Amino acid sequence: MAGAFALCAVAAFPAAHAQGDAKRGEYLAKAGGCIACHTEERKGAVPYAGGRALNTPFGTFYGPNLTPHPDAGIGRWTEADFFRAMREGKRPDGANYFPAFPYPSFTKIADRDLSDLWAYLRTLPPSPRANQAHDLRFPFGWRLLVSAWNWLYFSPGPYTPDPQATPAVNRGAYLVQALGHCSECHTPRNFLGGPVRERYLAGGEGPDGKRIPNLTPTRLEKWSDAELKEFLTLGLTPDGDVAAEAMAEVIRDTTSQLTPADLDALVAYLRSLPPAPEAPRRTAARSDPPRELGRAADVSGRRQREEPLALGLRDR
Ligand code: HEC
Ligand code: HEC
Repeated sequence: MAGAFALCAVAAFPAAHAQGDAKRGEYLAKAGGCIACHTEERKGAVPYAGGRALNTPFGTFYGPNLTPHPDAGIGRWTEADFFRAMREGKRPDGANYFPAFPYPSFTKIADRDLSDLWAYLRTLPPSPRANQAHDLRFPFGWRLLVSAWNWLYFSPGPYTPDPQATPAVNRGAYLVQALGHCSECHTPRNFLGGPVRERYLAGGEGPDGKRIPNLTPTRLEKWSDAELKEFLTLGLTPDGDVAAEAMAEVIRDTTSQLTPADLDALVAYLRSLPPAPEAPRRTAARSDPPRELGRAADVSGRRQREEPLALGLRDR
C-alpha cells in the first residue's frame, strides 16, 4: 500500500497530499453514509462490495463495489482517480457518473477528508463481487447527457466556510452539505431531477408522492435541540413515532454515528437556516404523470427529451 501512496504523491492531484489517515476516513465514511448505497440489502452482505439497488424515477441504479479488488472493485485506482470521481463526478476514463452518486454534494468534501476517505477504502478487504449494470429507462442511461445536467445543476469545488457564521455552524453546514448529502432528499427536485435551489432543504413531495419534511426552522422550531438529537440518534420523534425507512437508514448509518460535537454542529446549522414555508400539497399528484412540469420553470422550457437526466433519488 505504501507503494500506491508513493505513486499518488507523484500524481500530485490536485495538490500533493500527505498519506491519508484511514481511522479518520472511517469516521468520514459514516458521516457520508457511503455504506448504504455500496452494500447489498441482505443478511451477510459484504460491506462496500456493492449491489444495493437504488430506485429512482429514471430507473434502478446499483451502487458499485468500492473495495480494493483489482478487477471487481477499485483496486487499480489511484488517489487522483478517487478525487476526480468525488469532486468532478467523472470516471477514470473521463465518462460522467450519474448523479444518483451524490457527487454534487461530495464535491464539497475537503481535500484532506478525501485523502482520509481514500486511505480508509484501501483498508477494506477486497471483494470479488462483480458490479451489475444499471437498469435505466431510455434515454436516461446515456452518460453523455449528464453533461447537460451538470451544466445546469452541478457546481464543483470544496465547501467554503461562511465568514459570518460561527465555527459550529460552518462545521454543521459542511456535515449537511458535503458529507451528509441531506439535500439529495430534503431539497425538492424538478422533472430533470435537478434541485430546486430556492427550496433548499425545504422539503416537499417526492416523485412517489411521499412527503419529505422541511428541515428549516419553519418546521423544526417546535422541536427542542434535545428532541432533534433524539430523532437523529434514535429515530424517535417527540410524538413517539419512529422514522420512516429512508431516514431510518440515514440515522443508523450516519447521524447516530456522529460525535456529540458534530451532532451539535449539525443541529446548530439547521437552526441557522432561513425559515422556508411549507410546500403546498399537490393533492392530484398520484394521478399526474411523474413529470412535475409545473415546477420546471427554472429550466426555461427546454423539452424533456433533450435533457433527461439525473437523479431524484428516492429509496423505496
Ligand atoms: C445515495 C447513494 C450513494 C451514496 C450515499 C454514496 N454513493 Fe458512491 N456511488 C453511487 C452510485 C449509484 C454510483 C455509480 C454511479 C454511476 O455508475 O454512474 C457510485 C459510484 C461511486 C464511485 C465510483 C466507483 C466506480 O467503480 O466507478 C466511488 C469511488 C464512490 N461511489 C464512492 C463513494 C463514497 C466514498 C461515498 C461516501 C462518502 C459514497 N460513494 C456514497 C451511490 C452512492
Ligand atoms: C435518502 C433520503 C434522505 C436523506 C439522505 C436524508 N433524509 Fe432526513 N428524512 C427523509 C425522510 C423520507 C424523512 C421523513 C421520515 C418520516 O416521515 O418518518 C426524513 C426526516 C428527517 C427529519 C425529521 C423532520 C420532521 O419534521 O419530521 C430530520 C430532522 C431529518 N430528516 C434530517 C436529515 C439530515 C440532517 C440529513 C443528512 C444527514 C437527512 N435527513 C438526510 C429522507 C432523507
